[in-house]
Formats: sequence, C-alpha cells, structure tokens
Amino acid sequence: LFLGLDLGTTGVKGILVDARGSLVAVHGERLSLSTPKPAWAEQNPNEWWSATLKVLKALSNRSREIGGRIRALATSGQMHSLVVVDGEGRVLRDAILWCDQRTYVECDEATNLLGGEEQVLKIVGNPILPGFTLPKLLWLRKNEPELYKRIYKVMLPKDFINYMLTGNIATDHSDASGTTMYDVFRMRWSEELLRTLKISTEILPEILPSNGIVGKVKRELAEELDLQDVIVVAGGADNACAALGVGVIEPGDVMVSLGTSGTVVAPTDVGSYDPMGRVHFFAHTVPNMRYHMGVMLTATYSLEWFKERFLEEGYDDINDCVARTPIGSNGIIFLPYLNGERTPHRDPHARGVIFGLSSFHSKWDVVRAIFEGVTFGIRDSFEILKELGLEPKNVRITGGGSKSKVWNQMLADALGVEIQKPLVDEGASYGAAILACSGYSKLDVRKVSKEWFKLRETTRPTPENRGAYDKVYARFKELYHVLKDTFR
Ligand code: XUL
Repeated sequence: LFLGLDLGTTGVKGILVDARGSLVAVHGERLSLSTPKPAWAEQNPNEWWSATLKVLKALSNRSREIGGRIRALATSGQMHSLVVVDGEGRVLRDAILWCDQRTYVECDEATNLLGGEEQVLKIVGNPILPGFTLPKLLWLRKNEPELYKRIYKVMLPKDFINYMLTGNIATDHSDASGTTMYDVFRMRWSEELLRTLKISTEILPEILPSNGIVGKVKRELAEELDLQDVIVVAGGADNACAALGVGVIEPGDVMVSLGTSGTVVAPTDVGSYDPMGRVHFFAHTVPNMRYHMGVMLTATYSLEWFKERFLEEGYDDINDCVARTPIGSNGIIFLPYLNGERTPHRDPHARGVIFGLSSFHSKWDVVRAIFEGVTFGIRDSFEILKELGLEPKNVRITGGGSKSKVWNQMLADALGVEIQKPLVDEGASYGAAILACSGYSKLDVRKVSKEWFKLRETTRPTPENRGAYDKVYARFKELYHVLKDTFR
C-alpha cells in the first residue's frame, strides 16, 4: 500500500492506495487558522504534526485490519507558507501562511532592490507577491530580527512533516519554486536573487525531485505508529500534486481545483512566463515539467464563510436552491476577494463585494452569486492562460467544490468546456500517493499517473447558457475596475 497525505489549510487528509491505484481508506483531521490581525493568517506547525499523527495512526490501523503493508508515504502541502526552525529543529514561530497579505511593502522593496519587476521575472520567472515565501522571510528579518538570527533552516509545510517523520530536512522542486527564491528556468535556488537580497543559501534546504527519497520513518516513531521500514518520499506542492493526481501532466491538460483557494493549472514544456505576472510559473511534480497557474485566494472558502455566518441549510439544500435560481442571480454580483486577490488583479487590498441588492432579492440570489463569482474568477485565469497560448484539451476538476454538480455545470457552461471529474475526490493526496509509489518502486511518475487515472463523469456545456454567462461575466469584470480605488 501507499499512503498519500495532504496538509491543507483547513485540515490534514490521508489516503491509502493499493499498487494499482485503488483507494482503500481515507481519514481526515481538521485544523484551525489563527488571524491575529486583519489579512494575517498563521498556523502552528506543531498542530499540523499532531493532526498528521492522528491521520497516520488511523491509516496504519486500517492497513493492519485489511492485512496490507504500507511501503512508502508522501505529502502534498499547502504552498508558500513559511516554517522556520532552529539548530535543534524546534519551530521558532507560527508559520505565516500562503493567504497572509501582510508583506506587500516587502514585495515592493525586494522588487526595487532587484531592479524592477521585469528583472525579477527574468531571474526567477515570477513576480514577488505577498503570498509567496520570500517576502515573508524578509518581513521576519525586519520585524523579528532576533528570531531571524536563530533560523537554521527554512521549510515549506510538507517539508516540516517529512522532517518530523525522518529527521532529515529537504524540499522538492515544486515547493521550492513557490518561494520566489528559486530560478524556474535553471531549476535551482537563485544565487543572483539571494545574493542581492543578502539571504544566506545555508538556510535553504536541499532540493530533491518530488519522487526522491527523504529517508525512512524514524525508529521510535515507526514502532509507535507501526510504520516500520516505511520510506518517506519528498512529495510536493499541493497544486502540483493535485494536478498529478488527476493526470494533468502534459500541455493541453488543465486542472481546475475548487478548494479553499481556487486554482487553474496548465502544464507547459515551454520556458516562458506571463510577462504581466498574473499567472504563476512553477515547477511540476513531473520531472522537468513546468506549469502556469492562476490562483484565486478564496474559492470554496467564500461559500464556507457565508454558510457559517448566514445559512442554516446543509450543502445538499444549498445546491438544490442554487440550481433553481436563474443564471445571473437576478442581478446580484459577488466579487470573491475576501482576502485580496492574486489572479488576475494582484491586489492584496481588494475585498469581497455583494453588489446589486434590492428589496426583491432572496438569500438564494446571494448564494448563487457566490457560486457564479467563484466561477468567473476561474474564468479569469482561463482567459489569461488562453492569451498565453493554452489550448485546453482535457479539463479535470478536483477539490471540495468539485463534489457539487451545480458548480461543475456552471463551470462547463461559463468556460464553454467539458469538465472531467476523476473517480477519486482527493486529488492532492492521490498525487502524493503516486509520488510515494513512483519513489518506492522506481517507476516513472507520468506512467503511474496515467495508469492510475480513472474518470468518474464528464459534464458537458449547455450551449444555450453560454450567452447568459458571457453577459454576467462582463459585468463582473467591470465591477472590480470601478471599485478598485475604493479598496485602498
Ligand atoms: C497557490 C496557493 C494556494 C495554496 C493552498 O499558489 O497559494 O493554492 O497552495 O494550499
């Protein structure tokens, strides 16, 4: 058996998969998020670890019950979040997360020191954005200088889990590329950037292939969890793992992930980036492959946020009522920028908007507008990727939102493409399990991904609906531009 873990923002999920890729068991544990100030987001890595231990224990028990044996495990992790440890491997502070927006000043400062954005794009392939790891490290150096001096290593979230499991510190190319300290063209830490910004290369971990081996589960821990001789494979960034998990590994394949964040991943074998820096350019978990990615910061989180505060109904009722509400939500538009936005606006100051309310409206018009706003955010990324030459052939969906048939249909209609839904819902942990299998069995990552992929269903676009969505999308796009200056 192979074990795939996904360390997300709202929880840790683990799956067990057999050597043919069939799902055998799933176990999840929730995580909490701390927001010490508006637009800040932190989590304690030790809580990730406690949740991970519970998941590992549950899956190890499950494997014993069914008489299986876990051979290897790998982790897919939330991207960009900064973990710092001292020489004893102790966590120095809470991790600053991917969705934290505090560092826009550091982004500007670093960009200027490096000679402007055009230059930064040439050096690392991406602009420096508040979500990425580099500006978080610069923020620490400025605001917590004593703590900065005690840093022995910087890690990404899944690297911390691998370290706790094995005692070894390493990262992989897909996660390294999300730091903006990594040269996506040459696939190594960018000496030029690090030298200019006076960051020591010593504090950065060694970079392994995503299917490279970090070590074995430490002896005592292995005994406690009954994971003796289990190999720990490097794993990767959650979006790159999810893309691998749904077989999005070649140019023409596209993954739409409707999770807390919403992403559109398009693999590319061309070494070019978006000159406007609206979509990211990162290393895939597939060797020597890169991908473009558009990122919305609050996708299903927009719905969760609204549901938690204003709705009593469960998701089945919500989906039914949204399906009965007409396209265009009777004139209401929702801008899904609760925590600022990356693609397409790159605007940490943007905020959520419910626009067009009248005394006529019901709450379902608002809820449908949330579904539509997120769908249009995904369309924004599609439009940019098309501008960059993308021809979407296989569009595959994953993430919690993909369980909603209404959302799948809305995406198919508003994007004008067929949406394929894989058999396995857990794309990111499935991708991690593929890496575990590939690392352990020395099999080609692409081959395992292709052999394991199974389709559940395809949602076809309804041509009559396209025009209606086009009209609402045009209004959606205009609204941000009208409001833009009022967000500051
Ligand atoms: C991608 C990003 C998010 C996180 C979510 O750039 O910031 O999708 O990876 O875990």
